[in-house]
Amino acid sequence: VRTQVAIVGAGPAGLILSHLLAAAGIDSVILDQRSREEIESTIRAGILEQGTVDLLATIPGSRVHTVGQRHDGIELRFSGEGHRIDFPGLTGRSVWLYPQHEALKDLLAARLAAGQDLRFGVTATAVADADSLRPRVQAVDDAGVAFEVEADFVVGADGSHSVVRKALSGSHGGYFREYPFAWFGILCEAPPSAEELIYSNSPAGFALISQRSETVQRMYFQCSPEADASAMSEAQIWDTLQERVPGTSLVEGPIFQRDVLRFRSFVARDLRRGRVAIVGDAAHTVPPTGAKGMNLAVADVLLLARALEALLLRGDAGPLDGFAEAASDRIWKAQHFSWWMTSMLHLAPEASEFDRQRQLGELRSVVGSEAGRTYLAEAYTGWPFA
Ligand code: DHB
Repeated sequence: VRTQVAIVGAGPAGLILSHLLAAAGIDSVILDQRSREEIESTIRAGILEQGTVDLLATIPGSRVHTVGQRHDGIELRFSGEGHRIDFPGLTGRSVWLYPQHEALKDLLAARLAAGQDLRFGVTATAVADADSLRPRVQAVDDAGVAFEVEADFVVGADGSHSVVRKALSGSHGGYFREYPFAWFGILCEAPPSAEELIYSNSPAGFALISQRSETVQRMYFQCSPEADASAMSEAQIWDTLQERVPGTSLVEGPIFQRDVLRFRSFVARDLRRGRVAIVGDAAHTVPPTGAKGMNLAVADVLLLARALEALLLRGDAGPLDGFAEAASDRIWKAQHFSWWMTSMLHLAPEASEFDRQRQLGELRSVVGSEAGRTYLAEAYTGWPFA
C-alpha cells in the first residue's frame, strides 16, 4: 500500500488529521486495530474547548452544535459552598459538553462518506526507515496477513500504548508523573443533578458531577488506584458521591456503566524524528481533571496538518522543523493546568492538616480574585490558536 500520509489510529487525532489533509488535497491511509463498533463505544471525557468545537463544526454532518450543549461556566465547590466561574464573562469563550464517542461517530461517518481509506482490525507492529524519505508502517490485518504502508510521512495517533512512539525515542524517552489516586466513573439513568459541572473538594475527597443528556448523567469520585470497579454496590456509590457534594442532593438512578480511570502525566521526549511524528495520547497523557485530553490532541493535529501541507504541497520543511517546539508550548501549559486542577481539588492520601488548609487557601484565592478566575477560565476554555 502506498499513500502520502500513513496514520496509525482512528481516534479523534487520526480522523481529524485525515480530514484536514483531505481538505488540502493530501491522501492518507488510516489503520486501527479496533473495530468501528469498539471505537464508537469507548467512553471518554465530554468537554470540548471552543476551538475544538469550531473545528468539529466544519466537518459535514457534525452534531456538535445540535446534540452538544454549550456550557458557560463551572462551579468549584469547597467548604460546603459553590463558586461559579463565568467563562464568557471572563474570556468571551465557552465550552461544549459533547461526549468524545459521539464526536467519533460523526468523524467516522464523515471520513467514510468522503471515501477515506480507513482499515479496522489492523495492528501496526513497527515503523521502518523513519529517517528516510519513505518511512513504512508494518502491520498485520485481522486475518493475520502482514503488509506494509509506504508513505511520505507517518503519524502515530495510536494512543498511550503507541507503537509509532518506539520509532522516535524508544520506549524510554519521556517525562512522567504518577498520582496516588484515580477516578471511579459512572454513567447512570437519571435527570441532571445540576445544570453545570460541579468540581467538588470535600474532606472525604474529590467528586465531579457532570452530565450527558436529559436522561443520562456522568459522575466521578476520587478513589484508590487499586480500586475494583465491580466491588461497590450502587448504594455505596451513591453514598460516596452524596457525601462529597454537600449542599446538593444528587438525583439517583440505575448505574449502567462504571470504570476506574488511572491518573498519569506523561510527555514523550521526542514528538518528531525525520518523517515520523506522534500526536494526541501517543505524545502525552494528562490526568482527567479539566478534560484537556482530546482538546490537546486536536491542537497537535492542527499544527501538524499545517506542517504537512507546507512539506508535501510546497516542499517547505520549515513548519515541520518547528512542529515539536510549537506543540510542546501548548502541551506543557495543558500539563500544568491538568496537574494544578488535580492537585488543588483532590485529597492526597498523605496530606497533613497544613496541606489541607493551604489547599483551601489556594481555592479561596482563585475564586476570590478576578485574575484567578480568569486564569482558570482561559485554560479551561482553551488558549486561542495562533
Ligand atoms: C468530564 C470529564 C472530565 O475529566 C472533566 O474535567 C469534565 C467532564 C466528563 O466526562 O463529563
